[in-house]
Formats: sequence, structure tokens, C-alpha cells
Amino acid sequence: MKNYGEIKNLSFKELKGGISQKTIEIHWEKLYQGYVKKWQEIQENLETADREMANASFSEFRELKIEETFTANAIILHEAYFDILGGDGNPEGEIIEVIAKNFGSFENWLKEFKSLGLASRGWAVLGYDFNEERLRNYIADAHNLYGIWGAAPILVLDVYEHAYFIDFGSDRKSYIESFFSNLDWGKINQKFQKTAKK
Ligand SMILES: [Fe+2]
Repeated sequence: MKNYGEIKNLSFKELKGGISQKTIEIHWEKLYQGYVKKWQEIQENLETADREMANASFSEFRELKIEETFTANAIILHEAYFDILGGDGNPEGEIIEVIAKNFGSFENWLKEFKSLGLASRGWAVLGYDFNEERLRNYIADAHNLYGIWGAAPILVLDVYEHAYFIDFGSDRKSYIESFFSNLDWGKINQKFQKTAKK
């Protein structure tokens, strides 16, 4: 069972391919943990927010409910992103066959996903759609923008500048290559199997 107010442990020590410890430290300790603390703060404020003053232009209650989705999605996506790193980058497992089935070939999917990483202002997500019972590529310009109801993230790429600018400058393409070289496909496969069989 997930508790958004709980900070998870990082599952790897370091990454290769140019993603530095400094970037991981800022990203995991400051940004990710910051979202967990803000989610907790929102829950505390929701206990006392005046429901009688609810208003669609502005109200404390409305603002808290919006930022609740922003912080919860930030936690979900960051944990998903960090959970699948620390591997050797070699594609393996059932998920490779399912990707090939859903996207024509693994190469087709890879090409599209990398383009998604260049086209997005925040996240590129390979998700499992429970309605269609298949994998799809999704774009998210912010943590709570453009996700669809009924799909769960499986493979998540963070393309916010904080994820790569210190190490790669504006060369996002090289960062995306590094991301793929650090993927743990065993963990991605496990996540897929667990999700698709729910
Ligand atoms: Fe991030």
C-alpha cells in the first residue's frame, strides 16, 4: 500500500553515462523529498480548510485540491523514474515482447519514446492503460497535466531541466541516451507484470 507522505529509499548508489551525483542529490533529496513534505503540509491544511468558502475562481479548498494532485503525481512520477535506474540498460523480459506487440516493434517504440522525451516539457511516460489493456506512450508537461484516467506509469523519463542541465547543458538528446543506458529492465518488467495483472 502506498503512503504519499513517506519518503522512499533510493534504489541505487550511482549512475553511469554522465548523470552526476550532484544531479541525483539535488533531484532526489531536495526536489523529490520536497514534494513529499508539501503533500503532507497540504493534507494538514485540508483538515481545516473551509468547505463553505469553496469557489471555482479562487478558494483555499480549491487551491489545496489542485496542489494535492500536483504533489502526489510528482511523487508517483519521481519514484517511478528513480526506481527503474541503476541497471545495465539491456532490454529483457516479457515487457519487451508486449512493447513489440503494442508498437509494431521494440525499435518503433524506442524511436517514438525518445521523440516524446524531446517533445515534452516535463515527462515522457510509457503507461499501461487498464481500459484498453495495452501499453501507450504519454506526454506530461507538468506532474498533473495530460495524464489520462485509468493508466498507470511503467517506464518514466524526467525531462525537466533539473534532471540533466548540470551534466549535459541543453543537450537533452545525450541525457536521454544516458537514461536508457542506466535502465534496469528487470525492474521495469516486474512493474509491468504487477500492474497488468491487477
Ligand atoms: Fe524531476
